Amino acid sequence: MQANLHPISASHVKPSIKIVSTLNENYQTNPQSSVGKIKRLVLTQEGRTKLNTYSDRDFYAYPRLVTHVDDGFISTLTNVYRERLRPDTEILDFMSSWISHLPNDVKYKRVVGHGLNAQELAKNPRLDYFFIKDLNKDQQLELESCSFDAVVCTVSVQYLQQPEKVFAEVFRVLKPGGVFIVSFSNRMFYEKAISSWREGTAYSRVQLVVQYFQSVEGFTEAEVVRKLPTTKGAQENKSPLGWIMGLFGLLSGSDPFYAVIAYRNFKPIQDD
Ligand SMILES: C[S@@+](CC[C@H](N)C(=O)[O-])C[C@H]1O[C@@H](n2cnc3c(N)ncnc32)[C@H](O)[C@@H]1O
Repeated sequence: MQANLHPISASHVKPSIKIVSTLNENYQTNPQSSVGKIKRLVLTQEGRTKLNTYSDRDFYAYPRLVTHVDDGFISTLTNVYRERLRPDTEILDFMSSWISHLPNDVKYKRVVGHGLNAQELAKNPRLDYFFIKDLNKDQQLELESCSFDAVVCTVSVQYLQQPEKVFAEVFRVLKPGGVFIVSFSNRMFYEKAISSWREGTAYSRVQLVVQYFQSVEGFTEAEVVRKLPTTKGAQENKSPLGWIMGLFGLLSGSDPFYAVIAYRNFKPIQDD
């Protein structure tokens, strides 16, 4: 039973889609098995802390109908989705808002959104349903096990204070062979990001997300996709400082792209 799922609006609800279990009843899970369980904690207590300790629901209480990353980042992400998400499958857009970055020309069977602001989610044209949940208060998702082909989480993983439990829940709701795509850049609401993220580097943040996947038994080895800003600005700026800044992508002004991707149990072979 899936509780608290809000249809977007009558016009957006696809009549053929019901909010019922898509659990493959033939897929048996062994209660003794360690698959899907948390093997070890990645973060220390200190690493989970935020500068702004007020409620996340309050922080996201007013809608932000903005894009949090630039067009280059979004176009790279949409291409990753085009490659990894199969049409006519069931997708969970985790920690979403008014935009899901899915390719416009691809039809999915069902897209469920999760987030903290109902007005943002209600405006998202890709969602069939959405639900609200503060994952720093409660990590258990009221969603059926093995019910999604893919879970995506865009520019939001840095806000999770209990990522190991959240990744274990994502594992549970994915179908075997389902994919979890976590993408991020170097932007954040600084006061709301956890200390381990704030104080990290681009490299350590990628490693952190890799470790979140590794903390749950049964995810495949995480793949990392990086697309760093070009050094065009640096080539035009011939000074030694310009060259060094360009090396770190500081002159391009565009957002670096990182995605960490893993599958539940196995990576399916693509038919194309
Ligand atoms: C920077 S926005 C990204 C929104 C969207 N994924 C996008 O690509 O534009 C961060 C999102 O993280 C989610 N979020 C932050 N803290 C959260 C929490 N404690 N529980 C659940 N979701 C949270 C909110 O939905 C918020 O919209």
